[in-house]
Amino acid sequence: MPESVKILDSLLKGIAVVDATLQNDTFLRALQRQPVSYTPVWLMRQAGRYLAEYKQTRSTAGSFLGLAKNPDFATEVTIQPLDRFPLDAAILFSDILMIPDAMGLGLDFVNGEGPRFARPLRTEADINKLAVPDMNELRYVFDAVAQIRRTLNGRAPLIGFAGSPWTVGCYMVEGQSSADYRTIKTMLYTQPELLHRILDITAQTTTQYLNEQIKAGAQAVMIFDSWGGALADGLYQQFSLAYMKQVCDGLLREFNGQKIPVIVFTKGGGLWLEDIVTSGCDAIGLDWTVNLGKARARVNDKVALQGNLDPMSLFGSEASVRQEVRRVIDDFGPVGKGGHVFNLGHGISQFTNPERVAALVDEVHTYSRKMHV
Ligand code: CP3
Repeated sequence: MPESVKILDSLLKGIAVVDATLQNDTFLRALQRQPVSYTPVWLMRQAGRYLAEYKQTRSTAGSFLGLAKNPDFATEVTIQPLDRFPLDAAILFSDILMIPDAMGLGLDFVNGEGPRFARPLRTEADINKLAVPDMNELRYVFDAVAQIRRTLNGRAPLIGFAGSPWTVGCYMVEGQSSADYRTIKTMLYTQPELLHRILDITAQTTTQYLNEQIKAGAQAVMIFDSWGGALADGLYQQFSLAYMKQVCDGLLREFNGQKIPVIVFTKGGGLWLEDIVTSGCDAIGLDWTVNLGKARARVNDKVALQGNLDPMSLFGSEASVRQEVRRVIDDFGPVGKGGHVFNLGHGISQFTNPERVAALVDEVHTYSRKMHV
């Protein structure tokens, strides 16, 4: 492209993402361990079936994929939880399985049974055909990011996301959710080089995919390594962490003059915190098995921490939800330069009462404000 066209192109891209000054940057500040006046909060899977308005939009869309692949619907459901609760960040409504779908594996969501791939990767021949897809196959995601960002209009920052290569690889090889990861672990122990090829191609794709989300307007990105905790020590580092590091190394860490923080979340990764720091992430997501104060000492305040209330605690009374919230905030300890983003330790259950979520958000804000004075 000639230089003048390149400049015009980048100007136009700039216009697409310029919005009103961010009215609430608490989340982005906490991720960068800058001073904040209260602890910011958002929830994994905050847009979802526990909200009646989500179920309504989903039924209009006809299916989960119909919802997620339509930028208008995706924008609508992304904003829904922010209209209900004063959350400090929005997260793109999409799924970690859009990448293998774009790679041609044929994604479907069977009602009540979760994701299914028509063409899982099982043989060397399947893997030989695997390639980084054209990012235009995922254009609907980037269009949704741009539209959500415009609609938010500075109300809260927007998080983009992808699955970790290992976690996405689990679905690509198993073809569906799995209790024991027997198929992919058989491949890992018998033909590790095949698995490494899958993970490398997926990491390359994920890097491009997250960078496109950033260019479209994502202000932070999160890598969901939901099943990294299923790996043995030593193999986690080789088959999950190494590929998240590959992704982190290739990400745009600054865009349009703004830092783009990266959050890495390995569920069950509490034993590997020191290793996870070496991925180069800005923040580590933690599940509820980890004590935030001890985690903080182990990472030596080199990264921010996100988490880590047990999602099932929302099935307690309002008083107990508030008490558990205070415990998490107390565990993190003196805030000093910030560095804590409140979240659940995994996605919210579809059976959660939204009133408990309201209590959670309120308690995080009111209790932490007292600690930040
Ligand atoms: O956090 C958000 O609100 C953003 C949206 C989001 C979804 N999936 C929407 C979704 C995010 C961040 C994800 C990530 C995701 N998807 C993960 C990693 C996070 C985690 O929970 O560990 C994983 C493992 C998946 C794969 C996936 N998607 C499964 C196993 C299922 C079926 C199980 C289920 O909860 O129904 C999905 C479907 C899915 N993705 C739903 C939503 C709201 C429910 C679909 C529906 O409406 O029927």
